[in-house]
Amino acid sequence: MSATTTPFPKAVIFDAYGTLFDVHSVIAAAEQMFPSHGDALSQLWRQKQIEYTQLRTLADPAGASGAHYRPFWDITLDALRFAAKKLHLTLGRAAEKRLMDEYACLSAFPDAVPALRQLRDAPSASAGSAPAPAGGKAGAGAGATSRPGLAILSNGNPQMLDVAVKSAGMTGLFDHVLSVDAVRAYKPSPAAYALGTRAFGAQPREIVFVSSNGWDVAGASWFGFTTFWLNRQNAPAEELGVTPHGAGGGMNDLLAFLKSLASPDRNSGPGSTGNPGGSRTRHSPGA
Ligand code: LAC
Repeated sequence: MSATTTPFPKAVIFDAYGTLFDVHSVIAAAEQMFPSHGDALSQLWRQKQIEYTQLRTLADPAGASGAHYRPFWDITLDALRFAAKKLHLTLGRAAEKRLMDEYACLSAFPDAVPALRQLRDAPSASAGSAPAPAGGKAGAGAGATSRPGLAILSNGNPQMLDVAVKSAGMTGLFDHVLSVDAVRAYKPSPAAYALGTRAFGAQPREIVFVSSNGWDVAGASWFGFTTFWLNRQNAPAEELGVTPHGAGGGMNDLLAFLKSLASPDRNSGPGSTGNPGGSRTRHSPGA
C-alpha cells in the first residue's frame, strides 16, 4: 500500500495582513494625497487598527459572543479616520474611498506567492516527512497526506480576505481561508487560533503558525502552536517572555525552517532556542 505518512507539521497557517499582504503598500497613494505624511499615516493607521481589534475583544463580557465585535473592514475605516484626525490631515470622502480601495487590494510581498506555490506543489522539497505521490497534491482533511495543509487565519472578514487573496494571485493556494469573523473574537483570543486546529483536526503543536506580527506570534505561541516569526521589518522581539520556534526575514527562511522540522534527526518536534529578535534567520528545529 501507499508509503505516505502524515507530514510534520500537519499544516502551515499564515497570518494575512503584514505577513502575506503588505499593509504599507498604501504609502504611495497616501503620500500622493498627503505629501510627506504618507508613511506616518500608514503606520498610525495600522497601529490603531490592531489596537481597536484588541480593545473590542478584550472588552467583551464572557459569554457575550462578540458584543463589541465589528468586522475588520469597519475597524480599518475607523482606524484610518482616527489616524488622519490625529495627524491633522483632512480626509474627504474621495480620499477615504481611495485609501480603502487600496487597502482592499494590497500588494502581496514578492516572496509570498512563489513560496506558497512551492509548499503547495513541491511538498517533499520543502516540508513534510514523506515523498509526494504522483500528482503531488493532498489537501487538508484528505487523511494520510504528503504535504502540510495550507491556510490563512486572519482578523480580516471573509469578504475582505476573498478580495485580497484574489487580487494577490493566491486563489487556489490554500486549503482554508479562515476568518476570526466566525467566532467574533480577534487574535490573540484563543477562540480565534482554535479555528486553525479545528480546520485541520490537529493539535496546536502539530501546526506551524507564521506571522510577521510579534504580538500575534506571542498569542499563537501561548495557544500552543509551533510558531515562526516572519520578521519582515527586522523588528526587535516583543518583551513578552515568548520565544518563537523559528524566525527569519523572508519566506525562504520559513521554507528552511520547515525543512529542518522534517529532517530525520528531529525527534519530538520543535524546541526553543535563544531570542531571535535581531536575527534575520534563526531556526530551532528539534534537539
Ligand atoms: C491579520 C492581521 C493581524 O491578518 O494582520 O490577522
